Amino acid sequence: MELQKDRSSGRRVRPARQILAPLRAIKSPHEIACLRKAIHATAVGLDAAMRSIRPGQFEYEVDALITYHCRRLGCQGMAFPCIVGSGPNSCLPHYTLNRRCIENGELVVIDVGGDYRHYAADITRTVPANGEFTPRQRSVYELVLRAQAAAIEAVKPGTAAGEPDRVARRLLGEGLVALGLARNTREAMRYCPHGFSHPLGMDVHDVPVRTLAPGMVVTIEPGVYLREEDLGIRIEDDVLVTAQGREVLSSAVPKTVEAIEALMAPGRGAESDRR
Ligand code: GLY
Ligand code: MN
Repeated sequence: MELQKDRSSGRRVRPARQILAPLRAIKSPHEIACLRKAIHATAVGLDAAMRSIRPGQFEYEVDALITYHCRRLGCQGMAFPCIVGSGPNSCLPHYTLNRRCIENGELVVIDVGGDYRHYAADITRTVPANGEFTPRQRSVYELVLRAQAAAIEAVKPGTAAGEPDRVARRLLGEGLVALGLARNTREAMRYCPHGFSHPLGMDVHDVPVRTLAPGMVVTIEPGVYLREEDLGIRIEDDVLVTAQGREVLSSAVPKTVEAIEALMAPGRGAESDRR
Protein backbone atom coordinates (compact mmCIF):
# COMPACT_ATOMS: atom_id res chain seq x y z
CA MET A 1 0.00 0.00 0.00
CA GLU A 2 1.17 3.47 -0.89
CA LEU A 3 2.22 5.93 1.83
CA GLN A 4 1.61 9.63 1.22
CA LYS A 5 3.15 12.65 2.91
CA ASP A 6 0.63 14.54 5.08
CA ARG A 7 1.12 18.24 4.30
CA SER A 8 0.39 19.63 7.78
CA SER A 9 2.35 17.18 9.97
CA GLY A 10 4.95 16.07 7.44
CA ARG A 11 4.28 12.45 8.46
CA ARG A 12 3.90 9.64 6.01
CA VAL A 13 0.34 8.36 6.17
CA ARG A 14 -1.79 5.74 4.49
CA PRO A 15 -5.17 6.91 3.06
CA ALA A 16 -7.97 5.26 5.06
CA ARG A 17 -9.71 4.30 1.83
CA GLN A 18 -6.87 1.88 0.97
CA ILE A 19 -7.56 0.03 4.21
CA LEU A 20 -11.34 0.30 4.30
CA ALA A 21 -12.16 -0.40 0.66
CA PRO A 22 -11.10 -4.08 0.69
CA LEU A 23 -12.98 -4.57 3.98
CA ARG A 24 -16.15 -3.23 2.38
CA ALA A 25 -15.97 -5.36 -0.75
CA ILE A 26 -16.65 -8.72 0.96
CA LYS A 27 -19.75 -8.56 3.13
CA SER A 28 -19.95 -10.24 6.54
CA PRO A 29 -23.06 -12.27 7.47
CA HIS A 30 -24.33 -9.23 9.42
CA GLU A 31 -23.88 -6.98 6.38
CA ILE A 32 -25.64 -9.49 4.14
CA ALA A 33 -28.52 -9.65 6.65
CA CYS A 34 -28.85 -5.83 6.48
CA LEU A 35 -28.82 -5.94 2.68
CA ARG A 36 -31.54 -8.59 2.74
CA LYS A 37 -33.68 -6.31 4.95
CA ALA A 38 -33.17 -3.34 2.62
CA ILE A 39 -33.97 -5.49 -0.41
CA HIS A 40 -37.05 -7.04 1.20
CA ALA A 41 -38.52 -3.64 2.08
CA THR A 42 -37.80 -2.35 -1.41
CA ALA A 43 -39.34 -5.47 -2.95
CA VAL A 44 -42.54 -5.01 -0.93
CA GLY A 45 -42.68 -1.36 -2.04
CA LEU A 46 -42.17 -2.31 -5.68
CA ASP A 47 -44.84 -4.99 -5.44
CA ALA A 48 -47.31 -2.44 -4.06
CA ALA A 49 -46.34 0.09 -6.72
CA MET A 50 -46.80 -2.38 -9.55
CA ARG A 51 -50.27 -3.27 -8.28
CA SER A 52 -51.25 0.39 -7.97
CA ILE A 53 -49.89 1.96 -11.17
CA ARG A 54 -52.50 3.15 -13.64
CA PRO A 55 -52.83 5.98 -16.18
CA GLY A 56 -53.66 9.24 -14.39
CA GLN A 57 -51.41 8.52 -11.42
CA PHE A 58 -48.49 10.87 -10.82
CA GLU A 59 -44.91 9.63 -10.67
CA TYR A 60 -44.58 11.06 -7.14
CA GLU A 61 -47.43 8.85 -5.93
CA VAL A 62 -45.38 5.79 -6.92
CA ASP A 63 -42.33 7.31 -5.21
CA ALA A 64 -44.36 7.99 -2.03
CA LEU A 65 -45.83 4.48 -1.92
CA ILE A 66 -42.43 2.80 -2.17
CA THR A 67 -40.89 5.19 0.37
CA TYR A 68 -43.80 4.44 2.73
CA HIS A 69 -43.22 0.69 2.58
CA CYS A 70 -39.46 1.05 3.03
CA ARG A 71 -39.96 3.20 6.15
CA ARG A 72 -42.70 0.90 7.45
CA LEU A 73 -40.35 -2.06 7.15
CA GLY A 74 -37.49 -0.51 9.09
CA CYS A 75 -35.46 1.46 6.55
CA GLN A 76 -34.22 4.81 7.80
CA GLY A 77 -34.98 6.27 4.38
CA MET A 78 -34.10 5.71 0.75
CA ALA A 79 -30.50 5.02 -0.27
CA PHE A 80 -30.89 7.45 -3.22
CA PRO A 81 -33.73 9.57 -4.60
CA CYS A 82 -36.43 7.38 -6.15
CA ILE A 83 -36.44 7.29 -9.95
CA VAL A 84 -39.97 6.99 -11.32
CA GLY A 85 -39.84 7.84 -15.01
CA SER A 86 -42.89 7.50 -17.25
CA GLY A 87 -43.08 7.88 -21.06
CA PRO A 88 -40.26 10.22 -22.16
CA ASN A 89 -38.84 10.18 -18.63
CA SER A 90 -38.31 6.41 -18.91
CA CYS A 91 -35.40 7.33 -21.22
CA LEU A 92 -33.64 9.44 -18.57
CA PRO A 93 -31.67 6.98 -16.41
CA HIS A 94 -31.11 9.51 -13.59
CA TYR A 95 -34.50 11.24 -13.63
CA THR A 96 -35.68 12.04 -10.08
CA LEU A 97 -38.20 14.93 -10.47
CA ASN A 98 -41.06 12.41 -10.41
CA ARG A 99 -43.75 14.99 -11.12
CA ARG A 100 -45.29 13.87 -14.39
CA CYS A 101 -48.73 12.33 -14.83
CA ILE A 102 -48.43 8.75 -16.11
CA GLU A 103 -50.32 8.27 -19.38
CA ASN A 104 -51.99 5.31 -21.02
CA GLY A 105 -49.74 3.18 -23.24
CA GLU A 106 -46.48 4.30 -21.63
CA LEU A 107 -43.78 2.43 -19.79
CA VAL A 108 -42.73 3.40 -16.28
CA VAL A 109 -39.14 2.79 -15.08
CA ILE A 110 -39.00 2.47 -11.28
CA ASP A 111 -35.45 2.42 -9.83
CA VAL A 112 -35.49 2.44 -6.03
CA GLY A 113 -33.66 1.24 -2.95
CA GLY A 114 -34.27 1.46 0.77
CA ASP A 115 -31.46 2.10 3.24
CA TYR A 116 -31.46 -0.35 6.15
CA ARG A 117 -28.87 0.47 8.82
CA HIS A 118 -26.64 2.07 6.15
CA TYR A 119 -26.96 -0.77 3.65
CA ALA A 120 -28.53 0.00 0.29
CA ALA A 121 -30.88 -1.88 -1.99
CA ASP A 122 -31.00 -0.94 -5.68
CA ILE A 123 -33.75 -2.58 -7.74
CA THR A 124 -35.33 -1.50 -11.04
CA ARG A 125 -38.48 -2.69 -12.72
CA THR A 126 -40.14 -1.39 -15.87
CA VAL A 127 -43.90 -1.78 -16.19
CA PRO A 128 -46.63 -0.77 -18.63
CA ALA A 129 -48.83 2.04 -17.24
CA ASN A 130 -52.04 0.22 -18.17
CA GLY A 131 -50.87 -3.23 -17.09
CA GLU A 132 -50.25 -4.67 -20.58
CA PHE A 133 -47.13 -4.38 -22.71
CA THR A 134 -47.65 -3.46 -26.37
CA PRO A 135 -46.01 -5.92 -28.83
CA ARG A 136 -43.21 -3.37 -29.43
CA GLN A 137 -42.62 -2.78 -25.72
CA ARG A 138 -42.69 -6.52 -25.13
CA SER A 139 -40.09 -7.32 -27.78
CA VAL A 140 -37.60 -4.79 -26.42
CA TYR A 141 -38.41 -5.76 -22.81
CA GLU A 142 -37.75 -9.43 -23.50
CA LEU A 143 -34.44 -8.57 -25.14
CA VAL A 144 -33.34 -6.65 -22.02
CA LEU A 145 -34.57 -9.49 -19.81
CA ARG A 146 -32.57 -12.08 -21.81
CA ALA A 147 -29.47 -9.91 -21.57
CA GLN A 148 -29.99 -9.53 -17.82
CA ALA A 149 -30.41 -13.30 -17.34
CA ALA A 150 -27.17 -13.98 -19.22
CA ALA A 151 -25.32 -11.31 -17.22
CA ILE A 152 -26.61 -12.78 -13.94
CA GLU A 153 -25.34 -16.22 -15.06
CA ALA A 154 -21.92 -14.64 -15.56
CA VAL A 155 -21.73 -13.67 -11.87
CA LYS A 156 -19.46 -16.18 -10.13
CA PRO A 157 -16.25 -16.25 -8.10
CA GLY A 158 -13.12 -15.60 -10.13
CA THR A 159 -14.93 -13.72 -12.92
CA ALA A 160 -13.77 -10.22 -13.83
CA ALA A 161 -16.20 -7.68 -12.37
CA GLY A 162 -16.71 -6.22 -15.85
CA GLU A 163 -17.73 -9.52 -17.44
CA PRO A 164 -21.51 -9.34 -16.68
CA ASP A 165 -21.59 -5.91 -18.37
CA ARG A 166 -19.79 -7.29 -21.43
CA VAL A 167 -22.14 -10.28 -21.66
CA ALA A 168 -25.27 -8.10 -21.48
CA ARG A 169 -23.83 -5.54 -23.91
CA ARG A 170 -23.03 -8.19 -26.51
CA LEU A 171 -26.55 -9.65 -26.39
CA LEU A 172 -28.22 -6.23 -26.44
CA GLY A 173 -26.07 -5.10 -29.34
CA GLU A 174 -26.98 -8.16 -31.39
CA GLY A 175 -30.65 -7.86 -30.42
CA LEU A 176 -30.87 -4.18 -31.34
CA VAL A 177 -29.30 -4.92 -34.73
CA ALA A 178 -31.81 -7.74 -35.26
CA LEU A 179 -34.64 -5.31 -34.44
CA GLY A 180 -33.32 -2.99 -37.16
CA LEU A 181 -32.41 -0.23 -34.72
CA ALA A 182 -28.71 -0.17 -35.59
CA ARG A 183 -26.44 -1.29 -38.44
CA ASN A 184 -23.92 -2.90 -36.13
CA THR A 185 -23.40 -3.69 -32.46
CA ARG A 186 -21.13 -0.68 -31.99
CA GLU A 187 -23.79 1.70 -33.29
CA ALA A 188 -26.37 -0.06 -31.10
CA MET A 189 -24.52 1.09 -27.98
CA ARG A 190 -26.00 4.57 -28.41
CA TYR A 191 -29.15 3.04 -26.92
CA CYS A 192 -27.24 1.71 -23.89
CA PRO A 193 -25.64 4.75 -22.27
CA HIS A 194 -24.80 3.51 -18.75
CA GLY A 195 -22.88 0.75 -17.00
CA PHE A 196 -24.78 -2.48 -16.43
CA SER A 197 -23.29 -3.51 -13.08
CA HIS A 198 -21.80 -2.01 -9.94
CA PRO A 199 -20.93 -3.19 -6.42
CA LEU A 200 -23.60 -2.58 -3.77
CA GLY A 201 -23.23 -2.14 -0.01
CA MET A 202 -22.87 0.87 2.26
CA ASP A 203 -23.01 2.98 -0.89
CA VAL A 204 -25.34 2.38 -3.80
CA HIS A 205 -22.26 2.48 -6.01
CA ASP A 206 -19.95 0.77 -3.54
CA VAL A 207 -16.16 0.46 -3.67
CA PRO A 208 -15.01 -0.86 -7.05
CA VAL A 209 -13.69 -4.41 -7.33
CA ARG A 210 -11.66 -6.17 -10.03
CA THR A 211 -12.57 -9.81 -9.57
CA LEU A 212 -15.77 -11.25 -8.10
CA ALA A 213 -15.44 -13.27 -4.90
CA PRO A 214 -17.89 -14.91 -2.46
CA GLY A 215 -19.50 -12.30 -0.21
CA MET A 216 -19.50 -9.52 -2.80
CA VAL A 217 -22.83 -8.04 -3.87
CA VAL A 218 -23.31 -6.46 -7.29
CA THR A 219 -26.23 -5.09 -9.27
CA ILE A 220 -27.02 -6.33 -12.77
CA GLU A 221 -28.94 -3.62 -14.62
CA PRO A 222 -28.98 -3.61 -18.41
CA GLY A 223 -31.06 -0.90 -20.03
CA VAL A 224 -32.17 0.17 -23.50
CA TYR A 225 -33.47 3.68 -24.20
CA LEU A 226 -35.21 4.45 -27.51
CA ARG A 227 -35.75 8.18 -27.14
CA GLU A 228 -37.43 8.50 -30.53
CA GLU A 229 -40.17 6.22 -29.18
CA ASP A 230 -40.22 7.42 -25.53
CA LEU A 231 -39.44 3.82 -24.72
CA GLY A 232 -36.94 3.22 -21.93
CA ILE A 233 -36.43 -0.15 -20.23
CA ARG A 234 -34.12 -1.09 -17.35
CA ILE A 235 -34.23 -4.24 -15.25
CA GLU A 236 -32.02 -4.37 -12.17
CA ASP A 237 -31.42 -7.03 -9.53
CA ASP A 238 -29.05 -7.33 -6.58
CA VAL A 239 -26.83 -10.41 -6.73
CA LEU A 240 -24.72 -12.00 -4.00
CA VAL A 241 -21.63 -13.88 -5.18
CA THR A 242 -21.53 -17.29 -3.47
CA ALA A 243 -18.96 -20.10 -3.42
CA GLN A 244 -21.17 -22.00 -5.89
CA GLY A 245 -22.03 -19.05 -8.13
CA ARG A 246 -24.67 -16.51 -7.14
CA GLU A 247 -27.92 -15.81 -5.33
CA VAL A 248 -30.30 -13.18 -6.70
CA LEU A 249 -31.31 -11.38 -3.51
CA SER A 250 -34.13 -9.44 -5.20
CA SER A 251 -35.69 -12.41 -6.99
CA ALA A 252 -39.03 -11.91 -5.18
CA VAL A 253 -39.86 -8.94 -7.41
CA PRO A 254 -41.67 -10.15 -10.56
CA LYS A 255 -39.96 -9.38 -13.85
CA THR A 256 -41.23 -11.62 -16.64
CA VAL A 257 -43.85 -10.06 -18.91
CA GLU A 258 -46.39 -12.64 -17.73
CA ALA A 259 -45.67 -12.11 -14.03
CA ILE A 260 -45.85 -8.32 -14.32
CA GLU A 261 -49.09 -8.40 -16.31
CA ALA A 262 -50.61 -10.85 -13.80
CA LEU A 263 -49.61 -8.63 -10.87
CA MET A 264 -51.05 -5.54 -12.56
CA ALA A 265 -54.28 -7.18 -13.71
CA PRO A 266 -57.45 -5.40 -12.54
CA GLY A 267 -58.65 -6.49 -9.11
CA ARG A 268 -55.26 -7.47 -7.72
CA GLY A 269 -55.36 -4.50 -5.28
CA ALA A 270 -52.84 -3.74 -2.55
CA GLU A 271 -51.78 -6.74 -0.52
CA SER A 272 -48.43 -5.48 0.67
CA ASP A 273 -49.68 -3.85 3.88
CA ARG A 274 -50.16 -7.32 5.32
CA ARG A 275 -46.49 -8.27 5.00
N1 GLY B 1 -30.05 3.04 -9.09
C1 GLY B 1 -29.20 4.14 -9.26
C2 GLY B 1 -27.94 3.81 -9.94
O1 GLY B 1 -27.53 2.68 -10.03
O2 GLY B 1 -27.28 4.72 -10.42
MN1 MN C 1 -27.92 0.53 -9.84
